[in-house]
Amino acid sequence: MGNKATIGIEDKNYEFDFVKGSEGEVAIDISSLRNKSNVITIDPGFKNTGSCKSAITFLDGEKGILRYRGYSIEELAENADFLEVAYLLIFGNLPNQEQLDQFLFDIKEVSIVDEDLKKILESFPKSAHPMGILSSLTSALVSFNPSVADIDSKEEMYSAIIKILAKVPIIVAWVYRKGKGLSLGYGDYSLGYVENITKMMFKRPNKEYIQNDIIVSAINKLLILHADHEQNCSTSTVRIVGSSHAGLFASVSAGISALWGRLHGGANQAVIEMLESIEKDGGDTKKFMAKAKDKSDPFRLMGFGHRVYKNFDPRAKIIKIEADKVLNELGIKDSILEIAKGLEKEALSDHYFIDRKLYPNVDFYSGIIYKALEIPNEMFTVMFALGRLPGWIAQWKEMREMKDPIGRPRQIYIGENHRSFVDLELR
Ligand code: ACO
Repeated sequence: MGNKATIGIEDKNYEFDFVKGSEGEVAIDISSLRNKSNVITIDPGFKNTGSCKSAITFLDGEKGILRYRGYSIEELAENADFLEVAYLLIFGNLPNQEQLDQFLFDIKEVSIVDEDLKKILESFPKSAHPMGILSSLTSALVSFNPSVADIDSKEEMYSAIIKILAKVPIIVAWVYRKGKGLSLGYGDYSLGYVENITKMMFKRPNKEYIQNDIIVSAINKLLILHADHEQNCSTSTVRIVGSSHAGLFASVSAGISALWGRLHGGANQAVIEMLESIEKDGGDTKKFMAKAKDKSDPFRLMGFGHRVYKNFDPRAKIIKIEADKVLNELGIKDSILEIAKGLEKEALSDHYFIDRKLYPNVDFYSGIIYKALEIPNEMFTVMFALGRLPGWIAQWKEMREMKDPIGRPRQIYIGENHRSFVDLELR
């Protein structure tokens, strides 16, 4: 490869620099293309477009590699606590014990939300989807924490980061408890970050809370596996909203809305609903495989396929093992797990899926674990959001610190050419 990329447009050649990443990825820097040639590029879905340089997460979809700040997802899921991973993503390195203790202490100090937020929560209908409530309440937090962090002030940035890490879990627990008609509280100052989340969610008002280590460990792992995934739909949303200099809470609230969709984070709920409907229908996986392959049928095998993983999703491998482990340890036999395994086996030997490089993604088995933990289907994507929170924070912080310009794509207009206004009575 030479030093420059050349693009020929009509009878002129234009030269552009390459941008090379630390893992050998290469991009053509076309930021001067329009100025030089009056031509733009078009790439629906951004399948070939890098939106930024980032030092947070590396993934190689062909090789099935995922690393946060250089550490493999396998090692982190096996050895780390979610809060350590959050620190790593946001600040760039694993914390030492002192840094981790301080981080947890600082988060606990602001682990409280304005009581008035409860009034907003109470005004939602019972039927409201938890993701809608989470996004609205995260947005509402802006009104209770109105200052937009000055990115040149380390203290203000740090304060915004610990506040959102402290307050979103409270809202998540409240959304879960409201769905169950349980009282709303603030958790336990003496506990670790994930331990406190599980207590805030699962504590019954009429019983002493006894921590279940299997549940804590499973949630810890799921949160780590979801913590970041470079420039996906919700993260790109957070970055683009933040690029207008909207604050952290507002940007994250937009990210939560983006995550909700069935093609993104909402897939974990869709997977369980699909597996349940296959079971209800008699468990004939072949019938649903045929539907997924039928182009006249909108049905897709939820939890299969990924924009970047074209070999396997390393998170799916870890989650499949974890699903078996959690169900075994909790003594649960779930026929849905068998249906999922059956579908996976069939899909992996089916030409339609092989040719299109469609493999189980992170969401194919995560819902089975959440279900075993008695978390309702509609809360699955909320749990995903909780895991993705440090990733969104890290990406937002990086974007602001790099002083990225406001995100504002161009378009190719394909509408009417100029026409004269016609009076109403003449139309
Ligand atoms: N079931 C059946 N066919 C599929 C599936 C699927 N799950 N996924 C992709 N295909 C087919 C498409 O129909 C298309 O076929 P064609 O080439 O014959 O037209 C081909 O595979 C490529 O699919 P695209 O939609 O173009 O791939 P894209 O990269 O745009 O989409 C996506 C990726 C959205 C994840 C897609 O695979 C999908 O819809 N999967 C199901 C939803 C899901 O599990 N989403 C969670 C993703 S992980 C996450 O966001 C956390």
